[in-house]
Amino acid sequence: MNRFIKRLQWSQAGGWISGLGGDITIVLVVLVATAFAERTVEGYLKEGFDAGSLKGPEDDDHKKPFNIICKEKGYPFETHKVLTEDRYWLTLFRIPGAKGETREEAIAQRKPAIFLQHGILDSADTWIMHYEDEAPAFVLANAGYDVWLGNTRGNKYSREHQTLNPDYSDEKEEFWDFSFQEMAQYDVPANIDYIREETGKWRIGVMAHSQGTTQMYIRMTQDNSWWKWRVAVFVSLAGVARLDHCGSSLLTTLAQHESLIENIKRLGVYEMFPADYLQSAAFSRICKGFPIVCKLAIQLVANENKELDEEKRLATFMGHYPSGCSLKSLHHFSQILNSKRFQNFDYGKEKNLEIYGDEIPPEYDFSNIYGNKIIQVYGTADLLATPEDSLWLKEQLGDNLIFSQEYDLGHMSFLLAANMTFFDDVMEVLQENTWW
Ligand SMILES: *[C@@H]1O[C@H](CO)[C@@H](O)[C@H](O)[C@H]1NC(C)=O
Repeated sequence: MNRFIKRLQWSQAGGWISGLGGDITIVLVVLVATAFAERTVEGYLKEGFDAGSLKGPEDDDHKKPFNIICKEKGYPFETHKVLTEDRYWLTLFRIPGAKGETREEAIAQRKPAIFLQHGILDSADTWIMHYEDEAPAFVLANAGYDVWLGNTRGNKYSREHQTLNPDYSDEKEEFWDFSFQEMAQYDVPANIDYIREETGKWRIGVMAHSQGTTQMYIRMTQDNSWWKWRVAVFVSLAGVARLDHCGSSLLTTLAQHESLIENIKRLGVYEMFPADYLQSAAFSRICKGFPIVCKLAIQLVANENKELDEEKRLATFMGHYPSGCSLKSLHHFSQILNSKRFQNFDYGKEKNLEIYGDEIPPEYDFSNIYGNKIIQVYGTADLLATPEDSLWLKEQLGDNLIFSQEYDLGHMSFLLAANMTFFDDVMEVLQENTWW
């Protein structure tokens, strides 16, 4: 382990390349990717995620929590706690009405409810990071929806379990033993049924971004009739299923070097990029040992055509990002990337046989998805949910699609674009397909 750390440091010093043997590839990847990260991120990101130092933020939203931003802008706000079947506590935020309405006024109108689910390393904050008249959550609230915002298990708002402590050395491995597979199995039903119960509505709308969509698609393949009964319309922003063409450096690097994942586990780290990761002891070790991994966390959002995003609001967003995820989610994505299959988590032949009855993990079966209303939008400049993989997804969804459109956008643009025209299109289709 120590030798591995040393090797990376040597390679960073640019010196001792010979004698690295099998690790030569990773060293080259580290050098190339580090240079790339510095070039693209330089200019608007100084060190880490210190949003205060970014060029741009014209207000203090990058420092403010969700509820304060809502309150200051004049929106009603509520926090709810949802318990999953496997006993994780999730935090759900709610903006029940439009700007200027009180909670009571808004709820009395029994507006159609919509559930928003963010992507990997992200949080509910992402939906209110843009300017007020562009941020999807505020646009929906002002258009007459009752807006509910999920926080994935393990993120900064949902780091809680009835019996397991995410930080205790003898409990954390079990706490963090989940990927989007478990989110699909437990979080999605817990959140959706909670919202239905709380609002008294039979059916709700769902909108998700990136890994948020992965959870939803997996849920649909597992139990389509469950989904169809509860969800009137699903909006898929930068949807992620297969990753055959993925160019996101964090995922491709992990995919090419599964030993990195094993080495991070050996350090006793199962949680990746928690909100305060630059200050955390575990991460100072990871960032020293594997500087590439820390650099690439930024790239997950920044390695695309940055002119497409509203730079000043990207700075706001960076004050709220990252929000933490499990190493297993990144591992699962890297397996999907490597196998070129949208498949269940791969535990290795022996355990797969035990769990799945097959040495190879089964694929999530899109032919199980039918009779739904799905809106798909994806970006030409998206390195994670690429146009090629989005076209594959489009084909799988077939008749479920009521709208499918490509835009000149990157991965985070669906929340932060300089040109949010795509969202007008989404709103139009939503309103043509109203539910109550
Ligand atoms: C914004 O995007 C829309 C749809 O992609 C496009 O038609 C329009 O020209 C764009 N506007 C600007 C100012 O670039």
